Amino acid sequence: MKTFYITTAIDYVNGSPHLGHAYEKVLTDVIARFRRMMGDEVYFLTGTDEHGQKIQQSARARGVAPQAFVDAIAPQFQEMCNRLEISNDDFIRTTEERHKRVVCELLQQLFDKGEIYKAEYQGYYSTRQEQFLQGKGRNEDGSWPEIYGEVTEITESNYFFKLASYQQWLIDHIKANPEFILPRYRAKQVLEFLSEPLNDLCISRPKERLEWGIPLPFDPDFVTYVWFDALTNYYSAVVDKPGVWPASFHVIGKDILVPPHAVYWPIMLHACGIAIPQSILAHGWWSINGAKMSKSTGNFVEPLEFVDTYGVDALRYFLIREMSVGQDSDFSLDQFWVRYNSELANNLGNLVNRTLNMTNRFAASTVPGVGPVGDAETALKAVWEKTHAEVIPLFEEFQFNVGLERIFAFITATNAYIEQRAPWKLGKSTDPADQAILQTSLATMAEALRLGSSLLQAVIPGTVQKIHGVLGYTAGSTWMDELVWGDRLTGKSVEKTCILFPRPDKKV
Ligand code: ME8
Ligand code: MG
Repeated sequence: MKTFYITTAIDYVNGSPHLGHAYEKVLTDVIARFRRMMGDEVYFLTGTDEHGQKIQQSARARGVAPQAFVDAIAPQFQEMCNRLEISNDDFIRTTEERHKRVVCELLQQLFDKGEIYKAEYQGYYSTRQEQFLQGKGRNEDGSWPEIYGEVTEITESNYFFKLASYQQWLIDHIKANPEFILPRYRAKQVLEFLSEPLNDLCISRPKERLEWGIPLPFDPDFVTYVWFDALTNYYSAVVDKPGVWPASFHVIGKDILVPPHAVYWPIMLHACGIAIPQSILAHGWWSINGAKMSKSTGNFVEPLEFVDTYGVDALRYFLIREMSVGQDSDFSLDQFWVRYNSELANNLGNLVNRTLNMTNRFAASTVPGVGPVGDAETALKAVWEKTHAEVIPLFEEFQFNVGLERIFAFITATNAYIEQRAPWKLGKSTDPADQAILQTSLATMAEALRLGSSLLQAVIPGTVQKIHGVLGYTAGSTWMDELVWGDRLTGKSVEKTCILFPRPDKKV
């Protein structure tokens, strides 16, 4: 079986990690955990992008050497992954030897094959985007779009990679492989970009302009263009691991789909005779309270502060519940608060506490076996079967937000089932028939809670582990198996209480 190899973008370490970085890690982690639960062998890579002009400038501004600068910031990204409970197998930094070696190997190979040539370039250069610009990218009034920042006119000798000669190959590949660019509607944007003739890609920067990069193996007066360097991380991290390459999924933001991931990367690999990734999944962008995230205006969410206040799963849940993968979304604190209270604390948290309380009160803390089954149980079980059947295909299609909505509808149905059965009333009756229904209702609510929470495992793994723990449940063989309605909890002894989502006094 081919390893399911999944990656995130590697983040620039010119500043601290922000919510966009956190989201991408969590999204990729949810996919990785889900694939593992589905039985795949998963390899999950993330890391940091540490060369290039942005980093050099940030280091200079602080008066430190670039290596010392990146060594101080990269651990913040590693720490963020730990705190967010990201299940990555490896974390690559582009300043590591293992990475630099592979970048040099690929460059040398392309150079030897005549795919890289030297030429003089005259034109416009954007420092912010670290790219050469084409006249057609200008605004009507002749200015450059704001995304490019300061644009300067330059003339310099550089090395170029023969991107243009692979244009038709790439177009054909995209058309023949509808799963290459996901969500599918984004392929149109890539094909549009490819409808104009491609320029060859400048893959070097003269050392006098940029020192902080990997020297070209065939000309030490130049360093490697940061995108050529960065993209190669996906390959360099696993080059020594048999059966991992090619990547199954590169998860990235929509801003870096075209051209780097959808155009440069497949062509670089193809020109080197290396298999190309199966899919690139481009997610949308978060704004905060309706505006662009910005530290200077204070419109900013510190992911780790959020984790401190609300717990990691509150953040993971919100990010995955709120965003439809591919679309943009807004991180509104009011909306966060609504979901935290009504979905996590009241709906799920309540179900856990009622189940524990009643099992303690009416069954001496031990989940009873199911007695006679009535319409209420049959109906709830039918909701489960439907939920289970719908959620897995939704998750397979990355529709996690819709999947979570369905799971929470099942949790709502379970709470409604409890209202309907009213075990607190049955508990007062001495009629043996009532006692039998009481047993059934306690067994049913515990089983429904076990199942509903099992479906949440990829999204809020720590919480699910807690819930299973207080139910006395230790997960069985396969996830698929665990999702079958049954009597696994019969005879298990439950804890007294469990507070999953407390009301924090501070509202961030
Ligand atoms: O682009 N919402 O690094 P980066 C959602 N080093 N995602 C966001 C976001 C937001 N507001 N802001 C950024 C780079 N991202 C390169 C990648 S990969 C070989 C090299 C996402 O730190 C962004 O879309 O600017 C990207 O996928 C990731 O965070 C890193 O962005
Ligand atoms: Mg960026």
